[in-house]
Amino acid sequence: MATLGLIGSGHIGKTLARLAVDGGLDVVLSNSRGPETLADLAADLGPRARAATAAEAAAAGDWVVVTIPLVAYTRVEREPLAGKTVIDTMNYYPERDGRFEGLDDGTTTSSELFQQHLGASAHVVKAFNNIFFRHLAALGRPAGADDRTALPIAGDDADAKRHATELLGILGYDAVDAGPLAKGRLFQPGTPAYGAPYAQDKDAPFAQQDAGPAPAALVREFLARAGD
Ligand SMILES: NC(=O)c1ccc[n+]([C@@H]2O[C@H](COP(=O)([O-])OP(=O)(O)OC[C@H]3O[C@@H](n4cnc5c(N)ncnc54)[C@H](OP(=O)(O)O)[C@@H]3O)[C@@H](O)[C@H]2O)c1
Repeated sequence: MATLGLIGSGHIGKTLARLAVDGGLDVVLSNSRGPETLADLAADLGPRARAATAAEAAAAGDWVVVTIPLVAYTRVEREPLAGKTVIDTMNYYPERDGRFEGLDDGTTTSSELFQQHLGASAHVVKAFNNIFFRHLAALGRPAGADDRTALPIAGDDADAKRHATELLGILGYDAVDAGPLAKGRLFQPGTPAYGAPYAQDKDAPFAQQDAGPAPAALVREFLARAGD
């Protein structure tokens, strides 16, 4: 059975863990404080889930999702992620993360910084960053469902993007390939594709609304609105 490793088990980590268990994956959870603080969550998720250190979750995962505040990205250990598909959900919020010059002036993106930190042997794919966790919990559907939702992905390695697309499929989502990691800027905070596609009213603040499905064609439209 394939395993999803999670570095970070907060709003998004927990939500992905539930979707993964429901999709038949084993899950290894981790956070910054240690596995004992995740015992209740692991028990809730059932026998497919266990808690471990971040390095153990990284080593165990066929895919490893890093879902922590961006400010902590340099604390992610490189060695256990070598050769892995690493899914990056992180967003840059200066009020939470502090200022990053290259992000403020637009010369780079948060996922490119993370890729540089990990080095070329890890293959970073940006995904799940543009959907509110409550909407992520609600919109997963089996492949082929009329109301199946799509999420954008970006990455520099084609095999890793295929691998990430496979994970999205298991979790109940289609993928829309937005291009290389640098194109992650098309669905980062502040863009049209950030949050809004997955709300019922796609023109109103997304976090105050119930979830509404977003098929691939609609997600492409939202990405195009960000321009190049
Ligand atoms: N919330 C959303 O709807 C949403 C949607 C899309 C993307 N995002 C982005 O996804 C990321 C996670 O968001 P979230 O809302 O899930 O955050 P959160 O609820 O605050 O959870 C953060 C998790 O990261 C863990 N963590 C922090 N530093 C760590 C480290 N060095 N090693 C291992 N684990 C560490 C925390 O563990 P401890 O509690 O033990 O420190 C916690 O489990 C953020 O970058 C956010 O911007 C969030």
